[in-house]
Amino acid sequence: MVLTVVQSKEEASSTFINSIFATRYVRDPLPRYRMPENPIPKEVAYEIIHDELLLDGNPRLNLASFVTTWMETECDKLIMESMNKNYVDMDEYPVTTELQNRCVNMIAHLLNAPVGEKETVVGVATVGSSEAIMLAGLAFKRIWQKKRKAQGKPYDRPNIVTGSNVQVCWEKFARYFEVELKEVKLREGYYVMDPVKAVEMVDENTICVAAILGSTLTGEFEDVKLLNHLLMEKNKKTGWNTPIHVDAASGGFIAPFLYPDLEWDFRLPLVKSINVSGHKYGLVYAGIGWVIWRSKEDLPEELIFHINYLGSDQPTFTLNFSKGSSTIIAQYYQFLRMGFEVIIHVINRYSLP
Ligand SMILES: Cc1ncc(COP(=O)(O)O)c(C=O)c1O
Repeated sequence: MVLTVVQSKEEASSTFINSIFATRYVRDPLPRYRMPENPIPKEVAYEIIHDELLLDGNPRLNLASFVTTWMETECDKLIMESMNKNYVDMDEYPVTTELQNRCVNMIAHLLNAPVGEKETVVGVATVGSSEAIMLAGLAFKRIWQKKRKAQGKPYDRPNIVTGSNVQVCWEKFARYFEVELKEVKLREGYYVMDPVKAVEMVDENTICVAAILGSTLTGEFEDVKLLNHLLMEKNKKTGWNTPIHVDAASGGFIAPFLYPDLEWDFRLPLVKSINVSGHKYGLVYAGIGWVIWRSKEDLPEELIFHINYLGSDQPTFTLNFSKGSSTIIAQYYQFLRMGFEVIIHVINRYSLP
């Protein structure tokens, strides 16, 4: 049976009055760069913004930065439930902090960090690999400076050796934190950093060599094992102890699943820190990265801030103070939901050829 409801005249006219597209709010021009004088109804604000955003591209069709654009509805629900949690209020949200710590531990074990089951892993969630790289770079710079100071040597001209295929975040790190970027040039037919040339460029002012696992341009893995071997030999001769950072923004969530025998991670002794983007093959929406250090000794204590806003001591090492919690929770969801086995299948289907 079809039930037809006849509206009263008043109802019909109020429907008309409430029709968003017929209101003066939509017909009047909007000030573009200045805050409007008066408020507008919430439905109208929503519709105006929603419609303007229709001119954006469709995220599901965006393959530009290999960042996740789809998650299961259950995870979307968790994300919405935690949108209003400020991650930095750790006393207020201890479970969220615990979930971050679980993720850090899971990733560290995935990357073969040399930590026993009961030892604390050193790592942190970041906004993405860029922030993770800033933090890792700062740790290398500080360790190098301390060593040079202790030796009574100049410590004002630090440099970092990379391939010229590095992502822009390394140039940012170098410029923002005043470290010279020494780039190994690429050559015809060889589009990643050549470990031989990289080690040749290392000098006493080199804070670390940064290798990429999953070059942004081609997806190709650099030969971190050979780099480790050559650098160990040079370190033995010079006594410089130059370490390695691996920028595994893309490859960090691919290699452990698809190429478990490939040695590029903490199995190599000179690899002191690794970053990985949760929002790439960690299968979470934009806004999450991770950085893991090999051990406590590789992250200078003086870079860690101890905040005590809400009662207890909370150590933090991030560039920002406040940030959202939902991508951290979403990362935990992906680990818990899929486990090692399913991630292998998903990555097999979607990874770069
Ligand atoms: C190798 C590499 N490093 C770092 C980054 C920066 O990552 P994020 O966008 O997570 O800051 C990217 C991004 O494409 C990358 O490919």
